[in-house]
Amino acid sequence: MPHPYVLLSAAVSLDGFLDDTGPERLLLSGPADFDRVDEVRASSDAILVGAGTIRSDNPRLLVNSAERRAARVDAGRPAYPLKVTVSGSGDLDPDARFWHTGGEKIVYTTDKGAARAADALRGPAVDVVSTGAELDWRTVLEHLYGVRGVRRLMVEGGGRVHTQLMGQGLADELQLAVAPLFVGQADAPRLFGPGGYPPGRMRLVETRAVGDVVLIRYVPTAPGTGALATAADRRWLGVACELAALCPPSRTAFSVGAVVVAADGTELARGHSREGGDPVAHAEEAALAKIAAGDARLASATVYSSLEPCARRASRPAPCARLILDAGVRRVVTAWREPDTFVAGADGSGLLAAAGADVVVLPEFAERAEAPNRHLLGAG
Ligand SMILES: NC(=O)c1ccc[n+]([C@@H]2O[C@H](COP(=O)([O-])OP(=O)(O)OC[C@H]3O[C@@H](n4cnc5c(N)ncnc54)[C@H](OP(=O)(O)O)[C@@H]3O)[C@@H](O)[C@H]2O)c1
Repeated sequence: MPHPYVLLSAAVSLDGFLDDTGPERLLLSGPADFDRVDEVRASSDAILVGAGTIRSDNPRLLVNSAERRAARVDAGRPAYPLKVTVSGSGDLDPDARFWHTGGEKIVYTTDKGAARAADALRGPAVDVVSTGAELDWRTVLEHLYGVRGVRRLMVEGGGRVHTQLMGQGLADELQLAVAPLFVGQADAPRLFGPGGYPPGRMRLVETRAVGDVVLIRYVPTAPGTGALATAADRRWLGVACELAALCPPSRTAFSVGAVVVAADGTELARGHSREGGDPVAHAEEAALAKIAAGDARLASATVYSSLEPCARRASRPAPCARLILDAGVRRVVTAWREPDTFVAGADGSGLLAAAGADVVVLPEFAERAEAPNRHLLGAG
């Protein structure tokens, strides 16, 4: 099940705090950055904060600009994004401003918290959804996408929420506004707490001065592990689909893109079909050929391929599924299972899985993977 694009947004002090320990919310951003945040809210389908932020800050979480609200309505969207919170306890103050301003609201909670939340929120119209015995973030994201139609989710904290979404590899982007002041209190809430995070370095996509704060935007790079897809997996598969569009056209072979990424998010190589003028080159083959045999990083690397690696081919002795296994790679993420166009019953995923590799198929990318191949599928 697809997830919305998850954008973590926070303002931090120079020493990494989200707030101080005082009773009032610490204003870290200046007017220009609050306006930027308003713009990001207006571009989002939903805004999420944890129950801790509702208790401590009592936020409204509105789109404040009338022009931006009008533009949303003109585009057929509600004036305000859906407001979302998570609470394990269900202990929510019905008088909080969150419930009495803006548009629709939803609470994700546990089986235990659901009764308490429904009881507390009898007044305001709020949807209360339990994800089971525990709060499960993947279920929250799948529900937002599948049931509430949310494609872009802005997460505005607090630290506990940011820590989990980043740690579980579920954040597509981090937008940090670094404010020029110190908090200096050991007990103040930090942006990210202790925990397991994806390894390696994130990728910087933008820095911008906004008044006296600096906006920094990072995207994740480290692939997931095992059978569960992460936000970084989705981003890399998107790159593979872009590469597929670069292939010289052919009536006798698919156009495919592939990227090989080390566990720490380092791109090892990329390739696409018929690369370098070789009429029979496959994407995975072209990418793997650029990496030294025996490179120790291959054992924990992930291969992203817009089409599942081939299981049989006439043009070369070894199909790509075999090349991947021989290179030592044990994780493949792909968008599209091979149709019977050239080879009946090709099952590269089956071949890989039988050899112990994890194969993750993300069908939400199939349309992008198929796009440069429409003429082979009788649709163009
Ligand atoms: N500078 C900024 O940009 C910014 C933005 C937002 C917030 N903040 C600051 O952040 C602080 C609040 O952060 P916080 O970490 O205390 O709170 P938080 O992350 O907003 O919310 C934590 C609460 O969410 C629920 N929750 C989250 N994950 C859960 C899970 N896996 N299972 C069950 N429940 C879960 C729990 O609610 P229950 O307790 O109901 O079970 C938990 O207490 C405040 O000081 C606020 O000012 C700063």
